Amino acid sequence: MTAGPRTAGPRVLVVGQLARDLVLVVDRMPPAGSAAEVGDHRETLGGKGANQAVALAQLDARPSLLAVAGDDRIGDELLAQARRDGVDVSQVRRRAGTGTGLIVETLDADGGWRYLQHLPDDMLLTEADVAAAGAAFDAADAVLVQLQQPPAAALAAARLARQADRLLVLDGAPADDGHRGPLLALADVLRADDRETGLLTGASGDDPGQVRSAAEELLRAGPSLVVLGLGPAGNLFVWDDRRWGAGHLLVPLTDEKVVDTTGAGDALTAALAVALLRGDPPPDAARYAVAAAGAVVGHPGGRPALDPEALRERAQRLRPDPGAGPSTGAPA
Ligand SMILES: Nc1ncnc2c1ncn2[C@@H]1O[C@H](COP(=O)(O)OP(=O)(O)O)[C@@H](O)[C@H]1O
Ligand SMILES: [Mg+2]
Repeated sequence: MTAGPRTAGPRVLVVGQLARDLVLVVDRMPPAGSAAEVGDHRETLGGKGANQAVALAQLDARPSLLAVAGDDRIGDELLAQARRDGVDVSQVRRRAGTGTGLIVETLDADGGWRYLQHLPDDMLLTEADVAAAGAAFDAADAVLVQLQQPPAAALAAARLARQADRLLVLDGAPADDGHRGPLLALADVLRADDRETGLLTGASGDDPGQVRSAAEELLRAGPSLVVLGLGPAGNLFVWDDRRWGAGHLLVPLTDEKVVDTTGAGDALTAALAVALLRGDPPPDAARYAVAAAGAVVGHPGGRPALDPEALRERAQRLRPDPGAGPSTGAPA
C-alpha cells in the first residue's frame, strides 16, 4: 500500500453500516408476557461502519463513511451527528422513501446483549453504491470493509481498494460462497472475532495452536496480517510481511470490567488501521488495537470514546512484564 501526501491524519474510507442505535440496559430480560424496568437508555449514531468511523476520528484519522441511510429525519440527525464527530458523510447514500436502519440492543447485568435489527435490503450497500464512490477509494490511505455487508458489494470495494493500492482491512468472516477466496486474495489485514474465527477456520478458541495454524493458512490465502479472537485468551495476531517478516503475538484482554463487548471489535479494527498507517511494528499495532477494544467494553453500546494518549498508556500495560513469566503478551 502507499500512503498519499497529507497534512493531517491519514484518510480512511469505511465501507459499512450506519444505523440508529437504541441501547436499553435492563437488570434481566423479562419473559414474554411481562415487563422490565429499563435502568438506562442511550440513543446514538450507530452501526458498525459509523462506529469505526467515529473511532478513527477520535484517533486523529480523517474518516469518510460509505454507507446507506434513509431520506427520513432520523437519517438527517444521524448524519449531522457524524459530521460533528468529524466523519465525512459525502459518500453516504440516501435511499428515497426509506427509513434509516435501526438496531435495538438490550443489555443485561451480566453483559448479555441481544440485538434486534431492522436493516432491510435497501439499507445495505450494493455494487452500484460502491462503484459510484470510486474517487473516495483513490483519496483514501486505507479502506476498511465490513463483511456484514452483501458479499458482492464488499468484493467490489476490496477490488477498488486494491486497484488504488491502499491498505485494505477486512472485518468479519467472508462468507464461504465463492467470495471468500477473492476477498482474502485482495486483503492486507483480516480481523475476526471469536465467533467469526470459528466460522472461518473451524478452529476452537480453546486451542491456540490450532488457531495459529489456521491463521497461517489464511496468510497463505492473501493477507499479510490476520487477527483472530480466542475468547478469554485474547486476540492472536499472526503476520508475514515484506517489511516486518513473519511473527505472531497473543495479546491478552485488558483488565477492564466488561459491561458490553458491543463495538469493541470495531474500535480494535479502527485502531489497528491507524497504528499500521503510522508504521507501528505489528506487536505495537496489536497492543494499541486491543487497548482500543478494552476502552469500549466498559460502557453500554458500541459508540466509542477513545483518547489516543490514554490508549498509548493502556497499550503499554499490555507489554509483557519481564519479571512475570510468559503469561502476559508473550508470543503464543
Ligand atoms: N476486556 C477486554 N479487553 C480488550 N478487548 C476485549 C475485552 N473483552 C472483549 N474484548 C474484545 O472485544 C472484541 C469484540 O469484538 P466483536 O464481537 O467483533 O465486537 P463488535 O462487532 O460489536 O465490534 C473481541 O476482539 C474481544 O477480544
Ligand atoms: Mg465485529
